[in-house]
Amino acid sequence: TPEVISEKEEMRKWSRSMRAQGKRIGLVPTMGFLHAGHLSLVAQARAHSDVVVVSIYVNPVQFGPTEDLATYPSDFDGDLRKLTALPGSVDVVFHPPNLYDYGGGHESWVRVEKLELGLCGKSRPLFFRGVATVVMKLFHIVEPDVALFGKKDYQQWRIIQRMVRDLDFSIKVIGAEIIRDNDGLAMSSRNVHLSPEEREKALSINKSLLKAKSAAKDGQVHCEKLQNLAIKCITDAGGRIDYAEIVTQNNLEKVEQIKGPVVFCVAAWFGKVRLVDNMEINL
Ligand code: PAJ
Repeated sequence: TPEVISEKEEMRKWSRSMRAQGKRIGLVPTMGFLHAGHLSLVAQARAHSDVVVVSIYVNPVQFGPTEDLATYPSDFDGDLRKLTALPGSVDVVFHPPNLYDYGGGHESWVRVEKLELGLCGKSRPLFFRGVATVVMKLFHIVEPDVALFGKKDYQQWRIIQRMVRDLDFSIKVIGAEIIRDNDGLAMSSRNVHLSPEEREKALSINKSLLKAKSAAKDGQVHCEKLQNLAIKCITDAGGRIDYAEIVTQNNLEKVEQIKGPVVFCVAAWFGKVRLVDNMEINL
């Protein structure tokens, strides 16, 4: 069973004692309600380090005022059971009650100015500010050597990589492949809020990306055409598009014609649930 630590100071002390013993520390930041996607990150953290810390913290500052902070799913006991059952298990679960409990007055933020503007940043303008800031706090508290992020949240992964580079963190950031359910839906803690009908409709996201990718492989390199194909597929299924954009893999810049490695990123609403997914296209 992992040791559960809720105090920042205790967490940092644990990490420093591990480091003093020459151990490499792997960190998997999460907001809990763990699924196989999270668990695959844990397995990869194990492979890249000697001890593994999983943080479980629903970070309030990355939710907008009209977003789903209040209904974000949680099941801490279930999460602990899942982590305990893993081969190799996890050494520490860092589960702070509040990372901003200094009596108000938090006013320092990390912004990754260009990368945070597009895709999810358009409809969630303060989201990546909240993500980058909490991840930086977790990096300072846990002091990991390696940190794992899922490519499911592609823009988030790229933003954290950029922050680590720009601000000289001595941390290796690893992007892990997307884990999907058998029917192709990318796993997400938010999937639990989909009705069976909505879940069925939501399969159109992955289908639309597969369609676009195969059209690209067959020679259709015009992004607008590919985007429209995907948009139609999702809209016909009853989803409401937030964005469907083909961008470069590193800088997430819009592309008109596919010439190099790109990623097709989609966000769409099914009922009250907003889902994101993406697919890398390397022709
Ligand atoms: P959360 O949504 O809990 O995701 C935690 C990590 O799991 C992220 O790196 C995410 O990309 C990864 N992940 C989620 N679903 C995945 C899937 N189907 N396949 C592969 N990886 C997947 O992302 C966050 O939390 C927060 O923004 C956080 C980084 C913890 C900051 O608060």
